[in-house]
Amino acid sequence: MRTKIIAGNWKMNNNCAEAVELVKELKAKVADAKCEVVICPSFTSLCCVAPEIKGTNIKLGAQNVHFAQNGAFTGEISADMLKSIGVLYAIIGHSERRQYFGETDETVNKRTIAALGGGLIPIVCVGEHLEQREQGITEKVVVEQTKLAFTGISAADAEKVVIAYEPVWAIGTGKTATSEQANEVCAIIRNTIKALYGDDVAAKIRIQYGGSMNDANAAELLGMSDIDGGLIGGASLKADAFAVIVKAAG
Ligand code: PGA
Repeated sequence: MRTKIIAGNWKMNNNCAEAVELVKELKAKVADAKCEVVICPSFTSLCCVAPEIKGTNIKLGAQNVHFAQNGAFTGEISADMLKSIGVLYAIIGHSERRQYFGETDETVNKRTIAALGGGLIPIVCVGEHLEQREQGITEKVVVEQTKLAFTGISAADAEKVVIAYEPVWAIGTGKTATSEQANEVCAIIRNTIKALYGDDVAAKIRIQYGGSMNDANAAELLGMSDIDGGLIGGASLKADAFAVIVKAAG
């Protein structure tokens, strides 16, 4: 049985005071969660919210991590730096990073290796653009992104990774993939992991859906056989909506 994982990707929202407010509101609402609960505030808010979530079931994630351990990389943040302040997860290869910040399958792979090496759990994002879906190449795109993300990663490490299937056309658009569409691609991703690492890793690895998941559609999506959680953008900024999604994960 895979434990479901609901992660809130706050993106570039909430300064320190706002982040603390949101966490204060959230922690009681998700206290009885049966799934794993992760919030990913901006880098500048990580240290502010860390004391707030101490002793709660909320875990901390970052929205990115650099692939080097340290050195002359102005503006970047290493796995060790994140680990040292209590961060446990790192989102890697979000489509906004791929689209606006030159992230490639190669850098996604390097960041994933660095995160694992530094003791973080990567949440690796994959997903097709609308044109790719319309061209009928969703499977090809997602399989390739998954294979490249896992290049050089051992089976022991691979099973720790969380994969987020996020169709780019569904992110922040209010257009959710149907539960069947989402489940179909999550199953394709699981089969890709099976081909790379075998049945055991494929059965253990957790695959989230992300893209306009909200309090109204979460239960249906999370009820699908190959969807093990959600990566939530907009709806994670509202404590009530996020708490409903967490509850829907059972
Ligand atoms: P959304 O974002 O829930 O606002 O669509 C999801 C994401 O980008 O991870």
